[in-house]
Amino acid sequence: MCGIIGYTGTKPVCPILIDGLRALEYRGYDSAGVALSGKTLTTVKRAGRISVLEEALAAGEAGADLQAPCGIAHTRWATHGAPTDANAHPHATDRLALVHNGIIENDRALRRELEEKGYVFNSETDTEAAAKLIDSIYAETPDPIAAIRAAAKRLEGAYALAVVFADRPKQIYAIRRDNPLIVAATAEGAFLASDIPALLPHTKDYYRPDENEIVVLDAEGEAPSVRFFGAEGELTHPVCTVNWNVEQAEKGGYDHFMRKELGEGPEGVRRTLTPLVRDGLPAFGLPLMDGLGKMRSMRIVACGTAMHAGLMGRAFIERLARMPVTVEIASEFRYRNPILSPDEPILLLSQSGETADTLAALRLARANGIPTAAIVNVIGSSVAREADAVLATHAGPEIAVASTKAYATQASMMALIAVAIAHQRGLITDEKAKEMTAALADRLPAALEETIALEEQMIEQAKRLSSAEHVFYIGRGTDYDGSVEGALKLKEISYIHSEAYAAGELKHGTISLITDGVPVVALSTDANTASKMASNMREVRARGGYVLLICTEATRAEVEPCSDACIVLPESDPMLAPICGVLTEHMIAYHTARVMGCDVDKPRNLAKSVTVE
Ligand code: F6R
Repeated sequence: MCGIIGYTGTKPVCPILIDGLRALEYRGYDSAGVALSGKTLTTVKRAGRISVLEEALAAGEAGADLQAPCGIAHTRWATHGAPTDANAHPHATDRLALVHNGIIENDRALRRELEEKGYVFNSETDTEAAAKLIDSIYAETPDPIAAIRAAAKRLEGAYALAVVFADRPKQIYAIRRDNPLIVAATAEGAFLASDIPALLPHTKDYYRPDENEIVVLDAEGEAPSVRFFGAEGELTHPVCTVNWNVEQAEKGGYDHFMRKELGEGPEGVRRTLTPLVRDGLPAFGLPLMDGLGKMRSMRIVACGTAMHAGLMGRAFIERLARMPVTVEIASEFRYRNPILSPDEPILLLSQSGETADTLAALRLARANGIPTAAIVNVIGSSVAREADAVLATHAGPEIAVASTKAYATQASMMALIAVAIAHQRGLITDEKAKEMTAALADRLPAALEETIALEEQMIEQAKRLSSAEHVFYIGRGTDYDGSVEGALKLKEISYIHSEAYAAGELKHGTISLITDGVPVVALSTDANTASKMASNMREVRARGGYVLLICTEATRAEVEPCSDACIVLPESDPMLAPICGVLTEHMIAYHTARVMGCDVDKPRNLAKSVTVE
């Protein structure tokens, strides 16, 4: 949800800001803008993509000093007001310019108050109230730290703010609350950003300021510096180091990040599971995780694709370990006064570790004394920092808005957890547990690679789906859990209306939507339900529907005769096959959107990191 970047140092800031915005564009792409702080403080901002802003800068817009060595920039995911030039950030006054990621919830009241003081607002945004509020305080007390701290006390909501003041041309001030912000200093400059990919070309070492601290980036002294000021004075933070590299955050010859990341799923699964295996058995090295078998039940809380990985996890855990599991949408969980119990730990799943609803659910659980564990891809993220126990998925940076390789790592981690709980509970022998662990850690990555090798068949089917108005996904059990994710991915990036239904539920209403040629993607990897799936597929075809089947050698004989087209997965194992099935659905969604000419990596209206509620 919006990306911010700032730099002050020895180099011209413009190219650094523009490259940083490109690395953060996945967070929102409705408009982009920069404030350049040099001899003057100038703001240039444009609705639309970063290239539009670049053109304005190249044309010498507003006399912008392109050699300025300090500045801040923003790429927007619109919340308050349409994507227009006026609503784009930075929001500036004569004294300062400000960029914001998040939502100011009391902006209307602040706006009225500031209007009474004579301020004239130029945009519909909540952010402009924050800019003018700081301005009004700074006008009275020209101390940036005091002004931002006083303003923050008045701001309700979530934010990461970065501010440059016209009378302090080499400094940037920042503060965060419930929104991500990282900072770094090198010999060449001090940096701030919403996320790691923007810093990767400059450094792998960074700091994560705590909430409500004022961060000061300064290039005035001998060396560029980053300093942190809490209510009690100056603070220090341990340095965090990321093991990602720049190449991982680049397209590497692919047309889209999404296609590159689909290909990185198998290696991500290997990297995720291998460190969690000791003597052939799952070993998490965390008391909470290694003692899960003693718990009565478990709750999984997450959003979107991560929640779908949780659904798959529920099926694995319940089937194998006989532990009751509930899966909750994070945004619902916290507002329905959930009944919590200390013998029911909460497991949070999040790629970014910054999803506002997931973070809020974690805080609610912790406030109630509930043990929490998190599966996150971004180490050092807010969820990772606040959960009692943390397991890392090693998918590497995921840039495409549509989450794919993260899903593969999350679902495979859930499968390993299921094996671990079943073993802890004595429901499977050492030998069986070792066999299943090896299947996940060794065989699954290879099976995912073999699945990707079926790409030509997926492209063929994608061409067919690309002309559809509606696509339905059906499955039973884990295949229904996979279908839900397949349907989400297709609608998200191709804008084709798609819905998943439990195959047995179709005839209770939805089948009325099946008419001549309507595609139905049937996922059938479970031999126990293959004959039932076959009946459901027949029902679809009897109404003229086109059945695209994704099956395994174990189900093929039963279901293939009831399909119009069939992709056979390379793996039949009940835990491995559904994960391969979802990868197939992800690939089909990708190619459908690509054939349709959609902006695959940046689908309309979406942003990758959802840091607002
Ligand atoms: C869909 C997608 C989203 C995310 C969701 C949670 O492709 O990417 O549904 O899965 O916003 O995000 P994280 O995992 O970062 O908490």
